[in-house]
Amino acid sequence: MDTRQSDAKTVAGLVAGAVAAPSMHNAQPWRFRFVVSERVLLLFADLERAVPRFDAGNRALHIGCGAALFNLRVAAAQAGFAPVVDLLPDPAEPLRLAAVRLGEAGAAVPAEDDLARLHPAICRRHTSRHPFEEEDIPEGIQRAPTAPGPTTPCAPTPGAWSSNRPGRGRSTGTNRTRPRNPAPARA
Ligand SMILES: Cc1cc2nc3c(=O)[nH]c(=O)nc-3n(C[C@H](O)[C@H](O)[C@H](O)COP(=O)(O)O)c2cc1C
Repeated sequence: MDTRQSDAKTVAGLVAGAVAAPSMHNAQPWRFRFVVSERVLLLFADLERAVPRFDAGNRALHIGCGAALFNLRVAAAQAGFAPVVDLLPDPAEPLRLAAVRLGEAGAAVPAEDDLARLHPAICRRHTSRHPFEEEDIPEGIQRAPTAPGPTTPCAPTPGAWSSNRPGRGRSTGTNRTRPRNPAPARA
């Protein structure tokens, strides 16, 4: 297998991890392009997959793309890369959300180990469709660190906007209803 073929295989694997990210209405509003000569993966917002009726300002679209970028970093770290991410690399092209420079496999440093450890969660994670319950979040979870760590790989990271704020009820169900219609990577 030549370098080009092996790159294509590697990139397809990384993008497969990225597109397992959540997105509003499962719109998957992202596009990936691999610039072979620079070994850079570009992440674009795909406005054709926007849902303006429910997401007029494209805020959810950006959150979904951010989740895809995070998954991509996790997948890259797990594959032994130390990806360097440049957010909004071209001010003239706002749909180009990120450029992820892969570098050489095997260059990962210890900081990437924490990311790589999250890799199994890419496939395990899913949105809960269970109804909300009138029940407080257990103390231990409320006190969990806000950054994912080795013992809390999927700890919630509530922000001011989030309905997952401590003290609010939160669903804990586990059903999975995800029809996949992945946006293809473009080389
Ligand atoms: C920004 C954002 C907003 C979302 N809003 C809702 C929502 O209002 N109601 C809902 O049931 N799911 C919502 N979801 C979850 C998506 O429907 C879900 O991620 C998508 O169907 C894919 O399923 P999965 O998360 O199980 O992979 C949202 C997801 C994101 C990223």
